[in-house]
Amino acid sequence: MVSAQFKVENYVANSFIVVEGKREAHNFYIIRSGKVKISKENPVSAEEPFSIVGPGDFFGVISCMSNHPRTETAIALTDVSLISVEREQFGILIQKNPAVAMKIIRFFSRKLRDFDTAITRLTFKNSVEEDPSHLFNIGEYYFKHKIFNHAAYAYQRFVQYCPNHPNRDAALQRLKTLKAPYKIDDSKNAETLQRSFKDNTMIFCENEPGNELYIIQSGKVKITKIVDEEVMLAVLKPGDIFGEMALLDNKPRSASAITFGDTTLLAINKSNFEGMVQAQPQLATKLIQLLSERIWIAYRQLANLMIADPLGRIYDTLLTQVDIHRVKIGPKVPHNFEFGMKELMKMVGLPPEKGEVYAVQLLEDKHFKLDGGKIICTDLEELEKTVNFYKKKMILDRKREASKKAI
Ligand code: CMP
Repeated sequence: MVSAQFKVENYVANSFIVVEGKREAHNFYIIRSGKVKISKENPVSAEEPFSIVGPGDFFGVISCMSNHPRTETAIALTDVSLISVEREQFGILIQKNPAVAMKIIRFFSRKLRDFDTAITRLTFKNSVEEDPSHLFNIGEYYFKHKIFNHAAYAYQRFVQYCPNHPNRDAALQRLKTLKAPYKIDDSKNAETLQRSFKDNTMIFCENEPGNELYIIQSGKVKITKIVDEEVMLAVLKPGDIFGEMALLDNKPRSASAITFGDTTLLAINKSNFEGMVQAQPQLATKLIQLLSERIWIAYRQLANLMIADPLGRIYDTLLTQVDIHRVKIGPKVPHNFEFGMKELMKMVGLPPEKGEVYAVQLLEDKHFKLDGGKIICTDLEELEKTVNFYKKKMILDRKREASKKAI
């Protein structure tokens, strides 16, 4: 049993265990007995409005492991007994019980994909392709943009995974034009776990099946996705992990990975993944921290998209940036953002003409100004209050809508 080394906490029915928005999230819980209701004040579209969890389940991991404010409230539905795990104890927990780590990793991986899918739908009004036949379209995108090495990679994988597809001949023709071989020679990769790539090389392409994850040893990796245009999701650095989603939930790659400078990677495949998690708890800890951070950010992005008023979304985007960088919020605490109005409007997804109008409105708020083109907030507590105002307004609007429908 895990419980011997960890603190046990008991709660009577109807008590609050975790409260959404609370900034100190130093621990998470595993349920020993009883039932707990997990909910969010503003449920996002990718999730059920609430969930009920029981013995063996966990909650509070995302905020604890990412060291960000709580994103959900947990209430005891019955008398409950919980194991409380401090952030620093995570490695011990995994050593004692690697199955818990695997359960969390799998659960998080699915959640991240659900959130990513919902964000793509909402921001780009685009469906999410999850089929290798889409590799042909990726090839066409890169071909049209004259990025021929990535085009060749996508066509080669398309021919490999969709040998009977009607577009196969077109792909082969493109490869001929590009003077590229029809097949990628993977034989060397199968033998080694250490992989080296030259600058600007595609490691894998979105929609390609995948059964390895990677740890960056040197160099950088861009994570990109084509949604009408090529969108950069992240730039990863040594020590970072990527490619875990396809490995864990048996779906094609959710994005492409492209080197940014010469890069070396350590590959971990399905068969040695569980063994690696057991043998190296720090790897599982790092992976769970990374997934928690990404889920936390994705959740805040989704919650942001639920705010109808663009000015509300602007304030909330600023507060999210403050939280991402773990800046302590207090009265009269100022903060200099690293970006100006144009970048902010881009983050919020507002076109330049609309963005200008809202930039003027933001600067009418006495707690905001520009310095050298960058945004400054002079009082973070006021920013937090303003965001809370917009969130409360959203809840009221939703209740009003619901009661209108009920009449
Ligand atoms: P996988 O789907 O296997 O392949 C693409 C990888 O990119 C994915 O696993 C994650 O590791 C990574 N990834 C996907 N979305 C993001 C994101 N929004 N930010 C950073 N990395 C991401």
